Amino acid sequence: MTIKWRGWALATGVLAISAVAQAAPPTPAMLSNACAGCHGTNGGSAGLTMPSLAGQSKEAIEVAMKKFKSGERPGSIMGRIAKGYDEGQTSAIAEYFSKQKLHVTKQALDKAKIAKGASLQESNCGRCHIEDGREGKDDTPAMASQWLPYMQMQMADYLSGARKMPEKMKEKVDPMSKEDLEALLHFYASVN
Ligand code: HEC
Ligand code: HEC
Repeated sequence: MTIKWRGWALATGVLAISAVAQAAPPTPAMLSNACAGCHGTNGGSAGLTMPSLAGQSKEAIEVAMKKFKSGERPGSIMGRIAKGYDEGQTSAIAEYFSKQKLHVTKQALDKAKIAKGASLQESNCGRCHIEDGREGKDDTPAMASQWLPYMQMQMADYLSGARKMPEKMKEKVDPMSKEDLEALLHFYASVN
């Protein structure tokens, strides 16, 4: 009987060790490598239709991934990608990108539109897109220096209803003209 127990303990001990060795979790940096092809090595996107993730809040990335996964937010590719990650992995990746410095871009933008956007943003969007879009309240994504074509595509998705606007954002966006919204996006793209 005692011998049996000892054998059992030994066997489970060995099992426990090998389980630990196999489950050595990939680091957040390793996990986020899978995103680098499109979102850049440190979350600074090099593609005009792909958003930078650097400097986005952890919550913003987590919520976006959850919405892509459930299908609530439309995506050309992210729906499929988000399904490959569980909550723990998503959270580790989100934390990794949230610690990277905001990706500063240089884009060809319209000066008059930037000035108009600057005059509109604080009172209309600044409650959530804070610090001129460098930061976001709660799950609000950072927009400073984000690529203009990406933001234009997202705004088009919001206006068509394909992507659901937060209620309080909708209240601000709905009364605005297309020109005002376009000016706001030029403004955010210009912030660095
Ligand atoms: C093949 C290219 C590609 C890869 C790989 C990729 N993404 Fe994306 N990502 C996109 C595109 C394109 C969008 C815009 C939405 C869409 O069209 O799917 C996007 C949007 C996002 C957004 C929304 C950002 C915002 O400002 O709203 C998040 C968050 C995101 N991706 C996270 C990730 C994470 C995390 C990974 C790695 C696990 C990843 N992506 C891998 C292409 C990619
Ligand atoms: C009450 C808070 C709030 C206000 C006010 C607000 N937004 Fe947003 N905005 C958000 C949140 C939260 C998201 C992400 C929501 C989602 O999951 O689609 C977002 C996302 C966006 C995006 C997409 C960014 C990305 O990376 O995908 C754009 C563009 C945008 N807002 C523009 C505006 C503009 C322009 C205004 C002012 C007219 C505005 N928002 C006002 C909270 C707000």
